[in-house]
Amino acid sequence: MNDRVVVAGAVYDQGRMLAARRSAPPELAGRWELPGGKLEPGETGEQALVRELREELGVETEPLERIPGEWPLAPGYVLRVWTARLVSGVPAPLQDHDELRWLGPGESDAVDWLDQDRPAVAEAMRRLPTG
Ligand code: CDP
Repeated sequence: MNDRVVVAGAVYDQGRMLAARRSAPPELAGRWELPGGKLEPGETGEQALVRELREELGVETEPLERIPGEWPLAPGYVLRVWTARLVSGVPAPLQDHDELRWLGPGESDAVDWLDQDRPAVAEAMRRLPTG
């Protein structure tokens, strides 16, 4: 059986990367993640990412590149991560999150990332565009 895919985005703007603090479920609340969600049938990963970031943050984004690899989540789910560029809008915690924070170079340890997000976060911070 194929695992279900959860997509998440390292959203860049002005040389910083967006982190989002989960408000639910209780076992994940308070931990930080790259925002995203489940791939729906018929969607590409990029389409799902753009949709999830629109729903959860109210912004338009453009996927840049997939970070190689995938990471196990709860049984039956795997995480795939893309870098993305903020195209328009100001991110707001509309769903799933209660706080957002932009992280600049060297600030990735400023928040308590979900363990499963850490490898992709490290890679995304290495790829942070300047300015
Ligand atoms: O929004 P949707 O219900 O499609 O998905 P979600 O609840 O945001 O994410 C589905 C699952 O993936 C949850 O268990 C999240 O904790 C997990 N996830 C994660 O571990 N890391 C992320 N960057 C995004 C989601």
